[in-house]
Amino acid sequence: MRILTGIQASGRPHLGNILGAIRPAIELSKNPANESFLFIADLHTLTSLKDGRILRENTYAIAAAWLACGFDADKNFFYRQSKLAGYHTELMWYLNCFTPFPMLANGHSFKDKSEKLADVNAGLFTYPVLQAADIMLYDAHIVPVGKDQRQHLEMTRDLGGAFNRQYGEDTLVLPEAKIDEAVMTIPGIDGAKMSKSLNNYIDIFLNEKDLLKVVKKVVTDAKALEDPKDPETDNVFKLYSLVANKEEIEEMRANYLAGGYGYGHAKNALHAVLIREFAEEREKFEYYMNHIPELEQKLQEGEAKAEQIAKVTISRIRKKMNFDD
Ligand code: ADP
Ligand code: TRP
Repeated sequence: MRILTGIQASGRPHLGNILGAIRPAIELSKNPANESFLFIADLHTLTSLKDGRILRENTYAIAAAWLACGFDADKNFFYRQSKLAGYHTELMWYLNCFTPFPMLANGHSFKDKSEKLADVNAGLFTYPVLQAADIMLYDAHIVPVGKDQRQHLEMTRDLGGAFNRQYGEDTLVLPEAKIDEAVMTIPGIDGAKMSKSLNNYIDIFLNEKDLLKVVKKVVTDAKALEDPKDPETDNVFKLYSLVANKEEIEEMRANYLAGGYGYGHAKNALHAVLIREFAEEREKFEYYMNHIPELEQKLQEGEAKAEQIAKVTISRIRKKMNFDD
């Protein structure tokens, strides 16, 4: 099976991305029956982020995070969309000519973004068509994504279906979305869904001091040190429960219920457990960020491998369209 997913380079990866997306995708990629295509959707990111310096920094940070979390770039396909832009945008153009205007105009994500953002550009509008091209360019079977991407996958199948009706059923492979309803929503420091856009995220790759500053900002109620506390409703305890081991969780629960244990203590414990549980990832992340040429090399190798696949698909499609013999 070919498994494919794209990640925008809109910021550094946070604890929510790691527990909700990166780790589950790496688990899937470990199955020897699967080939995983993992790419950084930097062309998509351009719809909202124009500063090339920041875009590149984010791209490296995301690539470093995936490698640090154990993604095997040698066995799989690991690349930047922009480095294969010719193939991605060529297929996108073909699909554009099969895309009914209302399909895009009524897209949830487009409607939502066009209400919120000041810059409503054509890239934002045709975003789902580029995504459909990203997927079908590699004949992907399975696309693991979050719930918010369900409609983009439906559009991909609709576009692929329309294309195949014109040029033959064996032209494009129609992918299935894999939406894991069971994946929990990781709460942010304010208890709402952890997200870059809400600025409530924990960047576990920060240095120890800055990480502590973020952990200290986790929102709690105003109970005094001596008061008993409710573990079920507290954000520090919720976050701690996601990373600590069973005994540690039970110990903290008992401390909360007994009183005489303050939120400051709990925050120090959360900080310590984040550092301990992500020790290897933090070290590897730091290594790659300090060895960018090595990261570049891995990406370039991935891009050369991915190009071999993209070339074959595009040439098959062009023949079907009668552009080539
Ligand atoms: P953000 O909301 O910070 O912009 P993205 O939309 O870039 O995050 O999400 C990238 C991936 O990480 C998606 O697959 C998404 O489902 C997952 N993810 C993001 N935030 C969380 C969270 N708080 N809990 C679980 N998964 C998350
Ligand atoms: N739109 C996806 C997101 O915002 C990113 C993405 C781009 C993607 N191309 C893709 C995801 C192809 C899966 C497959 O999360």
